[in-house]
Amino acid sequence: MTEPATRTETGVSQLRCIGCGRTALPDRFRCEHCRDLLEIVYPGWEDGGPQGLSSSALEKLWRQRAASFDPADRSGVWRFREVLPEIAPGEIITIREGNTPVYELPRCAKSIGIKHLVAKHQGMNPTGSFKDTGMTVAASFARHAGYKWVACASTGNTSASMAAYAARGGLHSLVLIPDGKISWGKLSQSLDYGALTCQLKTDFDGCVRVLNEIVERMPVYLLNSVNPYRVEGQKTVAYELLEQMSWQAPDHIIVPGGNLANSSAIGKALREMKQLGFISRIPKVSVIQAEGANPLVRTIRETGGEKLIPVHADTMATAIRIGNPASWKKALRVIRETGGTVEQVSEVEIASAKAEIGAEGVGCEPASAVTLAGLKKLVEQGFVEPNERVVLVLTGHALKDADFTLRFHRGDLFEGTPHAAEAVGLKSQQRSPVVLEPKVDAVIDLLRSAEP
Ligand code: F0G
Repeated sequence: MTEPATRTETGVSQLRCIGCGRTALPDRFRCEHCRDLLEIVYPGWEDGGPQGLSSSALEKLWRQRAASFDPADRSGVWRFREVLPEIAPGEIITIREGNTPVYELPRCAKSIGIKHLVAKHQGMNPTGSFKDTGMTVAASFARHAGYKWVACASTGNTSASMAAYAARGGLHSLVLIPDGKISWGKLSQSLDYGALTCQLKTDFDGCVRVLNEIVERMPVYLLNSVNPYRVEGQKTVAYELLEQMSWQAPDHIIVPGGNLANSSAIGKALREMKQLGFISRIPKVSVIQAEGANPLVRTIRETGGEKLIPVHADTMATAIRIGNPASWKKALRVIRETGGTVEQVSEVEIASAKAEIGAEGVGCEPASAVTLAGLKKLVEQGFVEPNERVVLVLTGHALKDADFTLRFHRGDLFEGTPHAAEAVGLKSQQRSPVVLEPKVDAVIDLLRSAEP
C-alpha cells in the first residue's frame, strides 16, 4: 500500500469543525482540537453565490444539463456541481446516480388523513439506495487524493454502494459488516462488486470501532458517513427534490434515522438553498427511528439534546440497526433549525407501513418505511396538519430485503417474537402466494373469489 497525499486542492471548499469552527485538512474526519465532526463550507459563496451565479442562473444551468449526454451532466449529483467540492470532471467516478423519481402516494395519504403526500425514492439509485449520491463524491475524492484502498463499516447499503464505486474507479475496497445482521441481497452486492468483505461477530457499532482503528494505522480512506464528502453528495437529493417541486418548498420532509447523516445532509442543503435564495422558507425535517434503535429519540426526550444516549440496537429494519450514531449533533441541529421533531415506531408499525407503500406499486425496504409509520403518528399528534405538503424520503429499494417481504406476506415474520400478538392485526395486508394444481378452472375459481 502506498501513502496517499494528505493535502489536496479542492477549489473553493473548506473543511470546518461543527463544534469550534476551526478549519481542517481536506482528508480529515474529526477536528484535531475538539474531536467534533467536520463539514464542508464554501467561503466563496459570500461574493454573489457559487461562481458568482444567481439562483435563477443555476436553476437554468442545472435543467439544461439534465438533457446532456456527458456522464457528469447525466449524474443527478454532479449536475449540481456548483454546490459541491471541486473535482475535475475527468476524475469523477459516476454510475449515473441521483435523478430519482418523486411518486405521489394517494392511498397512503387518504388512509392517514392528509391531502398531499409524495415519496422521493432514493432506492432508485444504481445500487438501490441513497448511499450512491454521497459515494460518488467521496469515492471520487479518495481517488483524487491518491488513495488505493477505501473502507466502510456498514449495515449493508453503504458497503454495496462503496464496493460498486470503488470497482468503477479502480480502487480496492474493504467492507466490515455485522455477521448475520444484514440482508443477503446487500451482502451479495458487495461480493459481486469485488470488495474484500469481512463479517465481524459484532453489531454495526462494533464494526465502526474496529474500522476507526484500522484507518488510523493503514493508508485506507474511510467512507463511512462521518466523511464530509459523502454528506455533500447526499445533500443533492434536496436540491433535486426542490427542482422537481418547481422550487416551492414542501411543509415537511420525513427521513429515517440511523447513523443520522442523511437527515444532516438534507438539512445542510435546505440551509444553503435558503442562503442562496432558491427558497424563502425552510421545510420542517423530522427524523423517525425504530423503537429498538432509538438513540436520537431518547437523547432529545431524556436530555433535551444535551448528551447522546447510546442504546443496544435491535430491529428487523437492519439498515437502521444503529445504537451510537456518529452524526447525532448535526441531525439535532437540523431538527432544531427547521422546527422538525423525532418519533419512534414499532416493528409491527414498520411492517404495516412497508406493505402500504408496496401496495401503491412503489415499494421500499423496511428502514425506509419508518417514514410513513412515523408520519401517521405525527398526524395523530397534530404536528402535521391535513393540508400540509409532506415528502417521505424512501432510502432503499424493495428488493434490498426481499426476505422480509416474503416472510411478512407468508405471515411468519413475527413468529416467536414478542410482537406476535400485535402482528395479528396485519392479516388484512398479507397476500401469501397460493399454490394450485396447474388447472385453468382452479385459477379461474381463485380469480372469481378475489374479485373486489
Ligand atoms: N435507510 C437505509 C436504507 C439505510 O441503509 C440507512 C443507513 C438509513 C436509512 C439511515 O441513514 O445512517 O444516514 O441516518 N445505512 C447505513 C449503511 C448505516 O451502512 O448502509 P443514516
